[in-house]
Amino acid sequence: MDVKTTRISQPQLDGQFACCDRIAAYWQSLGQSPTAYVETYGCQQNEADSEKLRGYLAQCGYAMAQGAEGADVVILNTCAIREHAEQRVFGNLGALTHTKRRHPGQKIFLCGCMAGEPSVQERIRSSFPHVDGVFSTHHLWRFPEMLLGVLEGKKRLFFTRDEAGSIAEGIPQARDSQLKAWVSIMYGCNNFCTYCIVPYVRGRERSRHPEDILRECRELIQSGVKEITLLGQNVNSYGKDLDCGVDFADLLEAVARIPGQFLIRFMTSHPRDASEKLFDTMARNPKIAKHLHLPFQSGSSRVLKAMNRHYDRETYLAKVAYAKKVMPELVLTSDVIVGFPGETEEDFLDTLSLIRQVRYDSLFTFLFSPRPGTPAAKMEDLTSKEEKNRRFDRLCALQNEISAQIHSGYVGRTLTCLVDGRDGDSLTARTEGGRLVRFSGDDALIGSYQAVTITGATTWSLTGRL
Ligand code: SAH
Ligand code: SF4
Ligand code: F3S
Repeated sequence: MDVKTTRISQPQLDGQFACCDRIAAYWQSLGQSPTAYVETYGCQQNEADSEKLRGYLAQCGYAMAQGAEGADVVILNTCAIREHAEQRVFGNLGALTHTKRRHPGQKIFLCGCMAGEPSVQERIRSSFPHVDGVFSTHHLWRFPEMLLGVLEGKKRLFFTRDEAGSIAEGIPQARDSQLKAWVSIMYGCNNFCTYCIVPYVRGRERSRHPEDILRECRELIQSGVKEITLLGQNVNSYGKDLDCGVDFADLLEAVARIPGQFLIRFMTSHPRDASEKLFDTMARNPKIAKHLHLPFQSGSSRVLKAMNRHYDRETYLAKVAYAKKVMPELVLTSDVIVGFPGETEEDFLDTLSLIRQVRYDSLFTFLFSPRPGTPAAKMEDLTSKEEKNRRFDRLCALQNEISAQIHSGYVGRTLTCLVDGRDGDSLTARTEGGRLVRFSGDDALIGSYQAVTITGATTWSLTGRL
């Protein structure tokens, strides 16, 4: 699937910045200070995109509001991964008719993965007349142009033309945290797992140039960021479209060479492309967190084939064994789908036995949700909803037991943690493996790495003392 990645040119971006200037001038001429609210659903890719939208909005003169009530601009940055996620968005979108009635100047936009679905675009056109604009992820870089158009009284705008996808460098980002930063290294996905809608709504895989990524990381670290998470749907295939001889392991190594005390994380690794070179690179570099999120989806090779995952149970387990061998302290987390069409009790038992064998720190568990347009949505599915729910509960019970055991194993150990905030009486911190730790201490510690001795554990979190 060779698609030439196009890069948005500087004049094209300058055109957007000119729109920002005109929007800021418009509000100045009215003598008003506008506000905006961006609500983010779904994964870190959307979080990262929302930071760009807030960056653009700041450049247009908007201050950020805490909610939709009274805001001059409301953007819902949506997720399409499961039906439930979409229903929530439609519910919240409907509720915006009320905020708009109370503040008729309010401009409402829908973007993100749902905006890439033709059926959603249709539904907005026919049933949500209060929405002023819809733009898919391919068109995010054109948001100022859309906002200006809407403010100038153009009728509803849809920037949803399906494009191969491009890369825009230089969009301003208003980052949520001074301590932790998302850095997208690539966009889109080529894998077409049969259950998944992402390749349809986010387009083909395209990698940012290593120099652009490294420049961004250097700037972040210089500004005091302590943790960088490199983002992509399948980070292990980074660089394949660039032909510049840099793969994901090389990129990790290059980021780790940037001077300063910081930790590198990454999401998500597809098991097919996870290589020994990657694990060796992780093992060798103290700045790369010894945490691997390696979604397995199912423990049954038959189901994995139907999912088009391109690995089987044995290959997955062999990769995990190698990773654990070179990183004995490795924290493993994963995603799993229960109730894929045709999953038998035997297939499900394979999933349970894989979980028992690997012993994940924690799992993201999902009930299969048919996504219109994907191959799995058309597969015969004879298992009842009740049976799927029972399997789901059995799986969660097993994982909770394992998580609790692993957590109690932490008690008595001293771990280096990044203190990231306060929650009530305690400070919160994250271990290298991403575990939440609570302990008492002074706010001055926020933003520093501290050695914390673990004194207690539950299924979900750890408690400790300095
Ligand atoms: N690119 C990542 C996954 C991104 S989506 C990867 O391949 O690992 C996050 C998770 O949502 C997936 O790992 C999968 O477990 C789940 N998921 C995706 N589509 C789903 C669907 N149709 N029904 C249920 N879960 C789904
Ligand atoms: Fe979806 Fe598969 Fe791509 Fe992950 S790798 S985003 S599950 S198609
Ligand atoms: Fe959802 Fe899109 Fe992420 S579908 S999980 S927000 S890539």
